[in-house]
Amino acid sequence: MNHTLSPELAQRPKTSHHASELPWWKRTTVYQVYPRSFADTNGDGIGDLRGVIGKLDYLRDLGVETIWLSPFFDSPQADFGYDIRDHFGISSEYGSLDDCHALIEEVHQRGMRVVFDMVLNHTSNEHPWFVESKSSKHNPRRDYYLWRDGRAPGGREPPNNWRSMLGRRGWHYDRTTDQWYWASFLPFQPDLNYRNPEVKEAMLDVVRHWLSMGVDGLRLDIFNALFKDAAFTNNPFSFRPVPSEDNPDGFFQQTRHTIDHPDTFAFARELRAVVDAVPGPPRFLVGEVFGAPHTLRRYCGEDADGLHLVFLFKSMRAPFSGPGVRAMIAEFEREFPEPFFPTYVFGNHDRPRSILRLGNHAGKAKLLATLQLTARGVPFIYYGEEIGMHHHDIPAVHGLDPIATHFRFVPDWVARRLRRSGILLNRDESRLPMQWHHGPHGGFTHHASSPWLASHPNSAEVNVAAQENDPHSILSCYRQLLAMRNRSLALQAGSLELLSPAGVPLAVVAYRRRHGEGERAEVAEVFLNFSSREARVELPALPDRTVFSTLRGAMDPSESRISLRAFEGVVVCQG
Ligand code: GLC
Ligand code: CA
Repeated sequence: MNHTLSPELAQRPKTSHHASELPWWKRTTVYQVYPRSFADTNGDGIGDLRGVIGKLDYLRDLGVETIWLSPFFDSPQADFGYDIRDHFGISSEYGSLDDCHALIEEVHQRGMRVVFDMVLNHTSNEHPWFVESKSSKHNPRRDYYLWRDGRAPGGREPPNNWRSMLGRRGWHYDRTTDQWYWASFLPFQPDLNYRNPEVKEAMLDVVRHWLSMGVDGLRLDIFNALFKDAAFTNNPFSFRPVPSEDNPDGFFQQTRHTIDHPDTFAFARELRAVVDAVPGPPRFLVGEVFGAPHTLRRYCGEDADGLHLVFLFKSMRAPFSGPGVRAMIAEFEREFPEPFFPTYVFGNHDRPRSILRLGNHAGKAKLLATLQLTARGVPFIYYGEEIGMHHHDIPAVHGLDPIATHFRFVPDWVARRLRRSGILLNRDESRLPMQWHHGPHGGFTHHASSPWLASHPNSAEVNVAAQENDPHSILSCYRQLLAMRNRSLALQAGSLELLSPAGVPLAVVAYRRRHGEGERAEVAEVFLNFSSREARVELPALPDRTVFSTLRGAMDPSESRISLRAFEGVVVCQG
């Protein structure tokens, strides 16, 4: 066997009697496309929907099933699409409605699925609703957003002490009506008022609209901020300066009245019922929520009748060590037992690229990919991760990202320190154009164009073309792992049991995946060496065995004892 991709390896997850009982969204693999940075077809330097369509064969051959696209709806692009002006229209720089329908169709033709990004929490300040809302206190849309009087003296102080998710004041004064509006994120993203039934219905209609166009699922932007305390009670004091993956409190205040409101948990179930009622195949919802897995599970509903999945961003920060990873897996398993399901996510358009904290070490990136693609959970791969695209340091003063502008007073050395703890002030750094080949701009756009963000200086070396036929590349490793996963029900949806084989150092994480019972059970075992020291392990004797190593590729299936090399991952599975 060699490493290059054969058509069988790229096959979709297999369907069998067992498999058909499992909802597809538990067995799927998700790849996040940031459309602005993926592929530009008309030479304006901005990635577009036609560009995504042109790369669907690449994604199919990579072996991923579901594509999640960051928003491309009509927007002033102040937050590159996370500020929507018209939920039913497509931003002209990304294409047309026809392109959007073509995309959905082309994805489905390849047996793949597509997930759109729903920004329910807020709109752009240019959305006609907000323009009307702001025009007068008596406008019928006034109550679509959260407006309050300022505190005395003379209303000059914001209505209460709430801070935005970014840590600065979340209330913004508007002169027209001498009141303040609330924005959980940036000032040009006013929060909708979900306590107004008209707003809720209107937004549920947006959801119904896109799902009935054939979209297979939705990623829900800052879902945890949807409902706020109805009485606008001040948030209590906290000693925490910055939020962490486990706790959204920070900036010296608790988020009790602004984040994870009980009404938001209840709304998750309401939304699920709406989604389930849309005719057609089952769809899924994945929530962007922040905090400890124990809290986040609540978004999935006590009876698993809420969001299907939530991002477990803790996976981005788990220490790169045997004990650290083992503890993370144990926690996810404890908090998300069947019928719940964890997620593994190492990067996205808001966070430093995952390879940065690995010191750009290709072997470590392959090890992490092995964890992501073989543990029990839905993997979310951020574009470029499959080729080990590097992070790029861009000083905030050059940042196009509105967060960089919002925090332009923060010195670069502080920004770099925050980045080390996973907080990115200039998100341009992880949104660079996808690197396709060694040509100008990494093949992202036409020769003569200039991309909206300059390509990474290493695009001539780190790119898809350079890795495609290299059996030892990161890309080949992803393809092999995905192909294995797509053949193995145990890897897709089996139970996970952490193993502690005698004599194996703690730096090695080992687990067994099992699908089905007794004789007919299908099993896979995974060994991940998180240290630079070799470690001997005993491979399980499984019938019809395939053995794959991140450093050696396909191995002799009769090997029984091997010495794991530094940062090597080995997967043994049936079939
Ligand atoms: C989410 C998005 C981020 C966006 C913000 C406001 O965190 O991932 O990119 O800026 O919400 O919509
Ligand atoms: Ca374009």
